[in-house]
Amino acid sequence: MATPSEIAFAAQLIKDGNLVAFPTETVYGLGANALDAQAVAKIFATKERPAFNPLIVHIADLQNLNQVTSSTDPRIALLAAKFWPGPLTLILPKSETIPDIVTGGLPTVGVRMPDHPVALELIRQGGTPLAAPSANKFGRISPTNVAHIHKQLHDVYTLEGGNSTVGIESTIIKLTPKGFVMLRNGVISVEEIEAILPMDKSYKEERIIAPGMIKSHYSPLKKMLLTSSDSFAKIDKSKAGLISFSGQLEQHFARIVRVSEHANLADYACNLFKAMHDLEDDPEISIIVAETVPDEGIGRAIMDRLRRAVHDWNGETRQTDSLQSTN
Ligand code: TXA
Ligand code: MG
Repeated sequence: MATPSEIAFAAQLIKDGNLVAFPTETVYGLGANALDAQAVAKIFATKERPAFNPLIVHIADLQNLNQVTSSTDPRIALLAAKFWPGPLTLILPKSETIPDIVTGGLPTVGVRMPDHPVALELIRQGGTPLAAPSANKFGRISPTNVAHIHKQLHDVYTLEGGNSTVGIESTIIKLTPKGFVMLRNGVISVEEIEAILPMDKSYKEERIIAPGMIKSHYSPLKKMLLTSSDSFAKIDKSKAGLISFSGQLEQHFARIVRVSEHANLADYACNLFKAMHDLEDDPEISIIVAETVPDEGIGRAIMDRLRRAVHDWNGETRQTDSLQSTN
């Protein structure tokens, strides 16, 4: 874990308008002072991220929510009491202090309180909310430990916080007058949120703006496919690595990465990106195969990441124009 003096050093970097990579329970974030447009611009440059793709703002204390949103909706406190700190992002009307670059020009902003002591301490000592996307190059596999960051980003000061325990990005919901709509699946499921707030089935977004929705994302540099795909039967397993969940499909694979000992979906989420990184880095492996799971509960969030990860590989060659397939 990062030491107090490392956190103090990182907090000063934030105050000076620089970037810091920091641990959260979901994935590592690449953070900047969310109130400083010039600092936030460095995030987009470092990640090579398109400017229309809005960032999530991280807070450590509820009393700082008013720096981020103009909303005083009482439902925020209800959700915060149940899920914060934790992997739930709320899309709310933005406050005037949040620069447009953070939200990609949208009138709304994503906000969450991460459940990691190093993140919370960095935000408190930095004295400001932190805008932070995942600390990877745009489109690539998200980092769940410090080594994953160093594969992709160089020269960014990084705070150590161990392996991310949740392992996939936060659930994102938008509050609407009638309830909520789901913008990104995560380990907090629709059902858990519905226990507090109704899902708004009538709501239609004028413009789909959550680029977590870009069909291709989380892409490994090697061919990747799912056990449910037609091509699964035809692959050369002697060159393939399996991301194994049930333990029942492991025969003949050159390498197996078990993501769970007892077929537990939370373990799959926790270990998925690490398994993808490990197989991407293994020179003996040319194809990554991931075991599919039912689209329910956490399985929905896992399948969402897997479908985006294999999206570019549906043909034989990797499509580079995946941005055009935004849905
Ligand atoms: O778990 C997480 O959420 C991680 C950690 C670092 O907190 N962060 C993360 O950030 O996943 P990122 O940049 O990979 O995802 C941000 C996504 C955008 O791509 C978009 O889908 C959604 O959040 N988003 C942000 N602001 C939004 C807004 N105003 N309206 C709709 N969607 C928004
Ligand atoms: Mg990301």
